[in-house]
Amino acid sequence: MVVRPAVLGDAAGIAQAHIASWRATYRGIVPDAFLDGMDPERQQARWRNLLGPGRATVWVAERSGVIVGHASCGPQRDQAMSGWPGEVYSLYLTKAAQGAGTGARLWNHAAESLRRAGLAPFVVWVLTQNPTVRFYEHMGGRRLMERPVVIGGVELPEVAYGFADGR
Ligand SMILES: CC(C)(COP(=O)(O)OP(=O)(O)OC[C@H]1O[C@@H](n2cnc3c(N)ncnc32)[C@H](O)[C@@H]1OP(=O)(O)O)[C@@H](O)C(=O)NCCC(=O)NCCS
Repeated sequence: MVVRPAVLGDAAGIAQAHIASWRATYRGIVPDAFLDGMDPERQQARWRNLLGPGRATVWVAERSGVIVGHASCGPQRDQAMSGWPGEVYSLYLTKAAQGAGTGARLWNHAAESLRRAGLAPFVVWVLTQNPTVRFYEHMGGRRLMERPVVIGGVELPEVAYGFADGR
């Protein structure tokens, strides 16, 4: 598995893996209509925008030339989170690519990018019902606060994990 910085041409591959991971992760949590309606073209445009200069820092995991996941990070988006200048915006692997150490590699690259940019300590938001909360606890995250988020017209709780030592 190769883990490398993303380039603009990765937008389609990231979008495809992202949608597949959302559908596998959030079925039964996020409304089916939202998951089934995720549009590769629209997601690709979103990623092309995010990969542009001065936006997020993105890392991809690639196996045999196929992108199977990504991590994205950058400046904190929530003004209420003062004292936490950085944020990991997303971390997703396809089901088949999970459980082999790649998530930890992507995470470590994102954390290092934030540290180098002076954006540590940082947070990550995760839906409270997502079993991945355990991954963030395993990586040394501390539960900070909860808030509601609306996805597909349904309000769901999400929780912030803080990484004070930059891990
Ligand atoms: C979360 C995710 C990125 C983790 O990546 P991964 O490649 O499966 O995890 P790794 O194999 O790198 O695991 C690293 C360590 O975390 C542990 N771990 C991974 N997932 C875990 C979980 N759900 N609960 C507890 N521990 C977990 C592993 O046991 C491993 O432990 P070790 O350091 O003792 O070896 C991946 O499972 C994923 O994409 N999940 C679905 C999408 C998602 O929920 N993303 C987060 C949205 S906020």
